[in-house]
Amino acid sequence: MTHDSPYSMDLLINHITNLVTVRALGSRFKRGKEMTDIGLIRDGAVGIDNERIVFVGTSSDVDESRAKYVINGKGKTVTPGFVDSHTHLVFAGTREHEFSLRNAGASYAEIHRSGGGINNTVRATRSASKEELLRLSLHRLDTCLSFGTTTVEIKSGYGLTFEHEVKMLEVIQELRERHVLDVVSTCLGAHTIPFDYKDRRQDYIAMLLDQLIPYVAEHRLAEFVDVFCEEGAFSIDEGRSILQRAVDKGLGVKVHADQLTSLGGSRLAAEFGAVSADHLDHLSDEDIVAMKRSGTVAVVLPGVSLFLGLPMADARRLIEQGLPVAVATDANPGSCMSENIQLMMTVAGTMMHLTVEEIFTAVTLNAAAALRRSEILGSIEVGKQADLLIFDVPSYEMIPYHMGVNHLSCVIKRGRKVLDTMQEKFND
Ligand code: NIG
Ligand code: FE
Repeated sequence: MTHDSPYSMDLLINHITNLVTVRALGSRFKRGKEMTDIGLIRDGAVGIDNERIVFVGTSSDVDESRAKYVINGKGKTVTPGFVDSHTHLVFAGTREHEFSLRNAGASYAEIHRSGGGINNTVRATRSASKEELLRLSLHRLDTCLSFGTTTVEIKSGYGLTFEHEVKMLEVIQELRERHVLDVVSTCLGAHTIPFDYKDRRQDYIAMLLDQLIPYVAEHRLAEFVDVFCEEGAFSIDEGRSILQRAVDKGLGVKVHADQLTSLGGSRLAAEFGAVSADHLDHLSDEDIVAMKRSGTVAVVLPGVSLFLGLPMADARRLIEQGLPVAVATDANPGSCMSENIQLMMTVAGTMMHLTVEEIFTAVTLNAAAALRRSEILGSIEVGKQADLLIFDVPSYEMIPYHMGVNHLSCVIKRGRKVLDTMQEKFND
């Protein structure tokens, strides 16, 4: 915008029937009871200028003539862009045969132990070129966007050699340049011991510690390092040495924690002040206390339990005991083949017993906090990045309630329209 412009806003969305701001008023996340406060404004207005939010309030407080373009929000719901804080979206090959095997009675852990599972995707991903991975992943990011995800975290973890992990992380870097979504990169070299290191476990861990993590830090290929702490994957002691190396190299840390068994991953996450601990299906009260003390975001993944036919994490208990809870997809070919964050919102309600307000906090502000982004993302507040969703429904409750139906009609990313079924003309 030029200095002599008569306007002070590039865009104004006015007369919004339900404006869900999730205002944080400076806090990093909402925990416990605070999660029910979504800062709802009726007949709301949001002004945007130059990628940022410059006005949030009611229609009666805003002067339409100061906006270059106005969208009529009557009958609509506007929310912050959704943040999907946990995915494994870069992969080749699919595992529909395992879906069938599980439905016939095999467990996820059995398939993993018998050399399938993650290792199946490792074989396919190693065989794929960077161009092929890029093509597949760009398409998946389009799907994420179509459901309202405007920021996505993506983990490596299907290469599992130095060379192929670096390949995956370079693909993730390229996605950041090639797609409108904000992409956050996590190195998950510690996903499992790959089949070809089966009898050389220590060699694989040494490669992570001495080669991969230092290289990733030096070349800024990821912001976080994650470890899958689980029987059949990495022990707590192994996880500790991997996270320690990450911290020593200046990287943030996350943990796939207490998913299938209560191994102690969430307490390890707390020990390192991890930004998030994810899954959390088997937690003790002491684990919760430790996470609360360290300010670690509890990321629950209802789609995994739904897809694997397993009991849900007790997210209600996490909220009651005062943790900040986020909900993510965990989109991956093995344990949750879905990019649809809105589906996770519905399941978080029906199966994890979150209220609709808690659900919105869990996929916006708290999810941004799980990626160290809540200063700039996750709520509709003056100064934040203008990532907004417009839904063609007059009440926010309709969004998770009208299960499986997508009411999203417009996505505004950094102040620009990137998806639009309303044919708005404001930045054509
Ligand atoms: O987050 N838990 C481990 N890793 C993934 C699943 C990966 C896969 O099965 O391909 C998860 O569920
Ligand atoms: Fe995962």
